[in-house]
Amino acid sequence: MSALEVYKAIVEAQTLQLPLKQDAPIFTRNLEQRLDGRRKSERLYAPKRPREVVDFSSNDFLSISSSGLLRSAFLEEMAQHPEMDIGTAASRLLDGNSEYVENLEREIASFHGAETALMFGSGYEANISIYEVIPLPGDMIVYDELVHASIHNGIRNSRASIKKSFSHNNPTSLAATLSDLRENNEAVRLGMQTIIIAVESVYSMDGTVAPLVEFVTVLEDLFPLKNWEIVIDEAHSTGLVGKNGRGLVCALGLEDKIAIRLHTCGKGLGCTGAAVLCNATVRNTLLNYAHCIIYSTSPTFPTLAAIRAAYKMLMNGDLAERQQRLQKLIRHFYTRMYQHQAWSKAKSAEILDIPSGKDYESQPFVTQIVPLWTRNLDNHWLASNLQYANYRAWPVDYPVVPRDQGRVRLMFHADNTIEQVDGVVETIVKWINERLNVVEGQRPRKRDLQLREKF
Ligand SMILES: Cc1ncc(COP(=O)(O)O)c(C=O)c1O
Repeated sequence: MSALEVYKAIVEAQTLQLPLKQDAPIFTRNLEQRLDGRRKSERLYAPKRPREVVDFSSNDFLSISSSGLLRSAFLEEMAQHPEMDIGTAASRLLDGNSEYVENLEREIASFHGAETALMFGSGYEANISIYEVIPLPGDMIVYDELVHASIHNGIRNSRASIKKSFSHNNPTSLAATLSDLRENNEAVRLGMQTIIIAVESVYSMDGTVAPLVEFVTVLEDLFPLKNWEIVIDEAHSTGLVGKNGRGLVCALGLEDKIAIRLHTCGKGLGCTGAAVLCNATVRNTLLNYAHCIIYSTSPTFPTLAAIRAAYKMLMNGDLAERQQRLQKLIRHFYTRMYQHQAWSKAKSAEILDIPSGKDYESQPFVTQIVPLWTRNLDNHWLASNLQYANYRAWPVDYPVVPRDQGRVRLMFHADNTIEQVDGVVETIVKWINERLNVVEGQRPRKRDLQLREKF
């Protein structure tokens, strides 16, 4: 499917359906009415994946899945274990356990410098489980306002007595929120209840990196009785940050300070599933109380074999060259973009910002997530220009990003080329010039309209 065909399908999916389904049962009409709410604002998802388009969108950051590298390693791993059944046929607590999964967990825990690991079917399930199960009544959760939907959903279901957010990546805001809690809760002051801090290492929408050392300092200063624990989601740093891609916690040497780490396998590792790193007490609690484990079939052998194959490559340093290449490509993007004449015009006209690249030259690593911040709805225009030029990148809207903001999230991959990165920069520049020509207040959807006319 070409980019234009995909775009056409997305446009067609926005056609209101309720007027066409007046004879359908009330059940269907009510659902269509809800969907039409999305269609009216042109936000109905119509998942399509243009194959021949250059990937600046997927989470296969090291390109180990798309390049076939993981497939070869996976088939080798499968061949080495002819005794394994494909399915696990039960929950982990019944017949779904195996020496294979236990060994894999030991290998993963050892690689990340953790006491134990516990596998989940996905990062989503892992986050839901962590927050549903670990905070006990009376405990408190303090979370970064930009944490992933799975963390929000887990927190919503949690039994913690107090759930409070703090400003994104802001140690001062964290300190103020914690001081307030301490002031108003004797049990916290006396060290009788735990405060759980929920953060991510690299944030999935803005590519920002948590100031983890500063957070730990704030907590140590405020709670000398050590009744705090940090839970960190390393979804976007797994395989990418730190030595051999061990993650941010390892890169900062904070293994002993962090209670729970989530490493998802669906992004840098190119497969699915997740590993939760924690001590034996937390692992046992999750294993015994997490509904996603108790009431669900445990991950199948092919799922685990793919994870093991990917981890082996990480552990052996086989992905180091890809990790470096990715860094080079992202830095090249920032250099080219920020040097461009159009960039300063776009900045001063406030039609585009790329804050993730701030100080990129002095950073030890840059994240593969490069969001282009636009005005509300301009992101659709910019994204359609990129799609039109054969680069896959999608617009992101509220509620995934704050209301009245627009983003086009560029995701960089090890197998992107310098020429492709240059092409993306040129396309953005073309859009800037187009956008600068639009009179203030005019409906900023010119490209959308042009594309529609083509069909
Ligand atoms: C920060 C973060 N945590 C968790 C998840 C969920 O992981 P999974 O895709 O393995 O369910 C995602 C996926 O988008 C994520 O970005």
